[in-house]
Amino acid sequence: MSKVKDEKLAVKGEQELEWARINMPVLAQIRDEFVKNKPLRNIRIATCLHLEKKTGILLETLAAGGASVASCSCNPLTTDDKVAAALAKKMEVFAWAGQNDKEYYENINHVLDTKPHIIIDDGCDLIFALHKDRTELLENIKGGCEETTTGVTRLKAMERDKALKFPVIAVNNAYSKFLFDNRFGTAESTINAIMVATNKLLAGKTAVVVGYGWCGRGIADRLKGLGANVIVVEIAGTLGTDQSGFHRALEALYSGYRVMSITEAAKYGDIFITATGNKHIINSSHFPLLKNKAILSNAGHFNVEIDIPALKEMSKNAREIKDNVTEYELKDGKKIYVLSDGRLVNLARPSGQGHPIEIMDGSFGIQALSVKYVAENKLQPNVHDVPRDIDERIAELALLAQGVRLEKPTPEQVKYSQSWEEGT
Ligand SMILES: NC(=O)c1ccc[n+]([C@@H]2O[C@H](COP(=O)([O-])OP(=O)(O)OC[C@H]3O[C@@H](n4cnc5c(N)ncnc54)[C@H](O)[C@@H]3O)[C@@H](O)[C@H]2O)c1
Repeated sequence: MSKVKDEKLAVKGEQELEWARINMPVLAQIRDEFVKNKPLRNIRIATCLHLEKKTGILLETLAAGGASVASCSCNPLTTDDKVAAALAKKMEVFAWAGQNDKEYYENINHVLDTKPHIIIDDGCDLIFALHKDRTELLENIKGGCEETTTGVTRLKAMERDKALKFPVIAVNNAYSKFLFDNRFGTAESTINAIMVATNKLLAGKTAVVVGYGWCGRGIADRLKGLGANVIVVEIAGTLGTDQSGFHRALEALYSGYRVMSITEAAKYGDIFITATGNKHIINSSHFPLLKNKAILSNAGHFNVEIDIPALKEMSKNAREIKDNVTEYELKDGKKIYVLSDGRLVNLARPSGQGHPIEIMDGSFGIQALSVKYVAENKLQPNVHDVPRDIDERIAELALLAQGVRLEKPTPEQVKYSQSWEEGT
């Protein structure tokens, strides 16, 4: 028995699902294969994901593979009630926007009550609940998949402490996930959200991108394409990534960007976008250096990259001037605008719409094939990488959907690439 906000919203929700279905060709190809071979027959799947139209198509794909699916939301605020109502006509759904903490955990437990064999999680709350409160269900579990960085970090800690009781695929760490999601998805949705929130022209503006990793590179490229004058900021040393800030700064320089420290860039930027994964990247020492009417936004980690508490402290006034825009007036009268309270600007509604549909098509394609892999293999109770053939297959399916078909190497080329004898 599902629990959603309003069953009457199902008609509108089905329209949303249809639009996503039309625009998710990777999942469509996987669904065709699933319908034919039913690889998930007799499998019960429990999911804890942002419940909106793109997720809905993943859930439909799993059901098409023969699974019975029960879903709750991994975030109390992000459920699309229309989509939840439409999905509730096809499977068990326990989700609505605006759940309180108690309801959130009740819904997790409703989903677990279905005695799942496979878990799909986003942030590890479902997997954690299984290990802490519902240990009687562990013997049924074949494995799981995790969607995000935060979830994988928690799982690695469980693995390290030998607390993890079943195998989990770190979908987040697939190469095609970084490529689709962090680089192209974050870039497009971030720029889109900034344009919707501010309605300002980016051409001719000085835009400062802080952090030139997967996300930052994509954002800088898109800003350049729109005619902004882009400055890239990196850090001296290696922080939260296996690549050095020195290498990334040099890569940015060779890509044609001006590169400097945040203290220097603070003086020039009209608009700032942080994407570092670290905290207080723009802080009390930088606010006095900013130009009047500078705009600050974050596409990186939670709401910590801009030191908002310090900005509040240094301001004589703060007011929400329009949706997603807060104006801070410093004591000298200078005004600074912060988008979406410094939270992920591309996700914060109403201006942030999340990743484009095609991006989630790729990410959820990895989920669907990883679930099949868990169903078909006996794995050790560790955190596993997405198998390389699944990772490659997703890129191949995305290319096929665009009509791009690559040729296989000839046997001679394969032999040559593997030989150490043939030098010339
Ligand atoms: N908004 C979204 O939808 C979205 C999507 C994917 C990832 N993310 C988040 O974005 C963040 C970045 O992800 P990524 O994949 O680009 O990571 P990454 O590790 O590839 O890149 C981060 C970069 O920031 C640099 N950096 C760290 N501290 C810095 C500092 N103080 N000043 C300047 N540069 C600094 C690092 O040297 C690195 O090059 C992460 O928190 C990730 O979870 C957000």
